[in-house]
Amino acid sequence: MPRISESQIQAQYDFMSRVREINSHRGRLAAYIKTFGCQQNEADSEELAGMLTLMGYDIENDAENADIILINTCAVREHAESKAMSIAGRFKLLKAKKPDMIIGVCGCMVTQEGVSANLKEKYPYVDILFGTSELWRMPEILYTRLSTGKRVFEPGKGRYSDIAEGLPSVRSDRYRAYISVMYGCDNFCTYCVVPHVRGRERSREREAVLADVRKAVSEGAREITLLGQNVNSYGHGLYEDYDFADLLRDVCAADGDFTVRFMTSHPKDMTDRLISVMAAEPKVSKALHLPLQSGSDRVLRAMNRVYKRDDYLALVSRIRAAMPDIALTTDIIVGFPGETEEDFLDTVDIVKRVKYDNIYSFIYSPRRGTPAADMEQLPYEIKVDRYQRLIAVQSEMELAFNRGLEGSTIEVLVEGRSKTDTDKLTGRTERGKLVHFSGPDCLIGQRIGVRITHAETFALYGELLDTSLNGSAL
Ligand code: 5AD
Ligand code: SF4
Repeated sequence: MPRISESQIQAQYDFMSRVREINSHRGRLAAYIKTFGCQQNEADSEELAGMLTLMGYDIENDAENADIILINTCAVREHAESKAMSIAGRFKLLKAKKPDMIIGVCGCMVTQEGVSANLKEKYPYVDILFGTSELWRMPEILYTRLSTGKRVFEPGKGRYSDIAEGLPSVRSDRYRAYISVMYGCDNFCTYCVVPHVRGRERSREREAVLADVRKAVSEGAREITLLGQNVNSYGHGLYEDYDFADLLRDVCAADGDFTVRFMTSHPKDMTDRLISVMAAEPKVSKALHLPLQSGSDRVLRAMNRVYKRDDYLALVSRIRAAMPDIALTTDIIVGFPGETEEDFLDTVDIVKRVKYDNIYSFIYSPRRGTPAADMEQLPYEIKVDRYQRLIAVQSEMELAFNRGLEGSTIEVLVEGRSKTDTDKLTGRTERGKLVHFSGPDCLIGQRIGVRITHAETFALYGELLDTSLNGSAL
C-alpha cells in the first residue's frame, strides 16, 4: 500500500518550524477548528490540531479571537454543506475586524468537482483550501500563504491511495480515542458521495494502528474507537491472511484498562469470525453500529447495498445468538428515489423487529455525481412525513426500553460536567445511553455504578451508588 515517504512527512515538519519562525514575533496565537460530519472528520481535525500546535497555535473554542480558522467540511448531505457555507459567511465578518486572520476550508466538500473554483471566485476571504488527500500538506500550504501572501487552493491531486503516517495529533477528548484503521470506500452505494470524495479503500499497517492504540491508552484513553468507512474490509490489498477480526483481537491484547468499539460495519462484510472475536473479547463493547439504510429489497437493490432484508435479519440473529445483550444501532435513509409507502413500511417493520438502541435516520439528499441523484426524486413533503413517522416509532420503543431500566444499576463512563446543568455529571453506558447524575469531579474518567431513577427518550437520570464514592466502581 503506497505510504507517503518519511522524507515527505519530514518536509512537513520543516514547514511547521518555518511557520513557527514567521509567527515568532506575533505573540500568542490561537486557532479554531470547526468540524462537520463523521468521526473520520473528527480524527482528521485532531491531526490538524496536532500540526497547528506544533506551529505555535493554541487550539481554542473561540472563533472571535482566532488567528487561524479551519472549517473541516462534510459532503454526505446537503444540510451539512449549507451549514459550512453559512459559517464561512459568518467568519468573513470576523476577518473584516482582524485582517491578519487566516481562513481555511478543507474536508470532503472541497474535493467535489467545481466546489474549489466556486469558493475561489465567490469567497475572496478564504485564504487556503485543501482536500482530504492533501490534509498532511497543511503546514506547507499555510507556509506558502504566510510567506507569499497569495491564496493557496489545493483541492486534491487524486493521491487517494496514499497514507500519511507520523503526523502529530491532539485528541479532543481525554477518555475517548478515535483511531483510523482504513480510509476510503469501494462500495459505491448509489446515494453516497464518500467513495467520490475519500477515494478507494486502503488500510493502515497493523503495527501503525497498534502503536496508536498503545499511545492513546498510555495517555489515559479508556475507550478506543477503531474507525473506517467500512472497517470490515480492513486488510484487503495489504495482507493475505489478516483481517479486521485479527486486528480487533490484537488491539484487545494491548495492556491497559480500556474498551474497544468500531465503526462502520457494512452488513455484507460482517464475518462470523468477527462476531466470535467480539463475543470472546471482554474488552470489546457489546455494541454494534450496523447500517440498514432500508428494509425493502427493492430499495436495497437500487441503493446497491448487495444484501437483502432477510440476510440482514439473519445476521442480526447470528449476532444476538453470540451476544444476547448486544446494543444495536443503525443508519436509515428515508425517501430514497422510488421508495413507495410499502417500501417504507418494510423499513418500519425491521426497526420494530430488531429493536435498535438508537437509529440515525436521514432524509435522502441528492448528491452531485452519484447515480441516485439522477433518479426521479420524491416530493419533499413525503420524505419529511416518513422521516417523522420513523422517528416516532423509534422514540416510543426507546422510551419503553429506557423506562425498563428505572431502578436498575448501570455502569457509566463519566465524561465530565453536563453542558446544560453544571451541577450534574454526565456519562455514557456501554450501550451508548447518556446518563446524568450528581457527583464530584474526581469521578470524571472513571467507570462507576449509577442507579437509574428516571428515564426519558434520549437520556437517563440517576444517583451514585455509595460504593462509587469509596472508589470501588462496579
Ligand atoms: N442522503 C441522506 N443520507 C445519506 N447518508 C449517506 N449518503 C446520504 C445521502 N445522500 C447516510 C447513510 C450513511 C450515513 C453516514 O449517512 O445512512 O450510513
Ligand atoms: Fe457510502 Fe456505502 Fe461506502 Fe458507507 S459503504 S461510505 S454508505 S458508499
